[in-house]
Amino acid sequence: MTIKLLSVASEIYPLIKTGGLADVAGALPGALAGQGVSTRTLVPGYPAVLARIGKAKVVRRYDALFGAPATLLAASVHGLDLLVLDAPAFFTREGGPYGDDGGNDWGDNWRRFAALSRVGADIAADGVKGWRPDIVHVHDWQAAMTAAYMRFGPAHAVPRVVTIHNLAFQGRYDAAIFDALGLPPEAWGVDGVEYYGGTGYLKAGLVSADAITTVSPTYAEEIRSPVHGMGLDGLINGRVDRLHGILNGVDTAIWNPADDALIAKGYNARTLSRRAANRRALEKQFGLDADDAPLFVIVSRLTWQKGMDLMTGAIDHLVGLGGKLAVLGSGDHPLEGAFLGAAERHRGRIGVRIGYDEPLSHLMQAGGDAILIPSRFEPCGLTQLYGLRYGCLPVVARVGGLADTVIDANAAAMSAGVATGILHAPSDPLALHGAIAHAVHLHRNKPIWQGMQRAAMRADVSWENSAARYAALYRSLLAGAA
Ligand code: ADP
Ligand code: GLC
Repeated sequence: MTIKLLSVASEIYPLIKTGGLADVAGALPGALAGQGVSTRTLVPGYPAVLARIGKAKVVRRYDALFGAPATLLAASVHGLDLLVLDAPAFFTREGGPYGDDGGNDWGDNWRRFAALSRVGADIAADGVKGWRPDIVHVHDWQAAMTAAYMRFGPAHAVPRVVTIHNLAFQGRYDAAIFDALGLPPEAWGVDGVEYYGGTGYLKAGLVSADAITTVSPTYAEEIRSPVHGMGLDGLINGRVDRLHGILNGVDTAIWNPADDALIAKGYNARTLSRRAANRRALEKQFGLDADDAPLFVIVSRLTWQKGMDLMTGAIDHLVGLGGKLAVLGSGDHPLEGAFLGAAERHRGRIGVRIGYDEPLSHLMQAGGDAILIPSRFEPCGLTQLYGLRYGCLPVVARVGGLADTVIDANAAAMSAGVATGILHAPSDPLALHGAIAHAVHLHRNKPIWQGMQRAAMRADVSWENSAARYAALYRSLLAGAA
């Protein structure tokens, strides 16, 4: 029997993306289709989404959704079956999905994402035009309240899965908003939406979920400790029998070095020499010297989570070892400034592009020798998976999904020919220096480096296994609910 799944997410590739959540929300439906799961995804009607869906069908109207008129639209685009919440008061505005261009969160995010979640629960209860989900799967704090609305409403019998993509973002608000949420009084309390005296959206989702998943097995372990649990470790330990760590995959059709229109020249594991054309194109884009020195790349949010402060401290060391670095990212202004300053200091050796550029991110994986990801924590991480697939070897901190997906070039792995990258101790400047030095050293020996590239490109980074795990989880929940 085909399972009908409602997915709720605040971003989805290729319509709107700020990070890996969009990649996952965009790729999982296609992977699940092969497992007998048909997915409809509820997303907010941001201007970028409305512009891309073209002619859509109105499937439900709200005169007053949290006080504002809204319509639910159905549309099919890029193979995605979408339900789009067109609520102009909440989603039609300039800026990003969560805040303005100056980086300030929208003051009414609590209402915007409660509205999205309320509609998710309504769909679970009433269906849309005869379609009713068997199961509901929601992502991160922006959608987590769907689970709470379901549990305390008419759809309480429909199984619900909440996925944690990043515990650092929890959707915490004042206790005073509770009255406006439209939940019954019993939803307030330690077993409901109350969280340290305030309102917690992710917390509410986690206590209301039939299953909790997160995006790698190691992160599933890490979030049980106070260091990574970010205040929720007690709750998560209490529900550990419902916790599953399921690795993200990548869309191997979009990320395919043999057939990628966004890079200068296609290649595969047997034609690695063709990467040179991508390297030259990349050097040109970043104003870097054209030479064969190890070319490191960074494609990242420039934040503390990603260890980018450690990275700016390691740049002079990297250049001193003869390396070059191309950085694509945006984020904290002091970090952006530090990278730009390094590019000034090391002309021809460091190139920096502040901003978001999807096509350029492909060329960086195709032309770079190694991708640096010194994260302090990393629930899964996708850029190391793209790096593996493109033979741009990941040099990464040993945390979360990075630890689960990269095989360190230690002596044993090297002699077995299975190493795919370099791992270093997290949050440790000297360990990062050591990892960069190790990469430079290995890069000098072409056969060894190419052997690692081939091992990396052989790694299975597809969604196949993980989609099967999600499908098995849905089936077990449905069997339990029946
Ligand atoms: P996170 O979601 O924590 O930012 P992930 O590694 O899971 O980290 O996903 C990041 C996604 O965003 C990847 O698809 C990556 O290629 C992309 N990305 C990050 N920064 C940029 C940028 N400046 N330009 C283009 N793509 C970017
Ligand atoms: C979050 C995490 C990242 C993960 C992504 C998709 O943004 O920071 O590690 O890959 O979600 O699950």
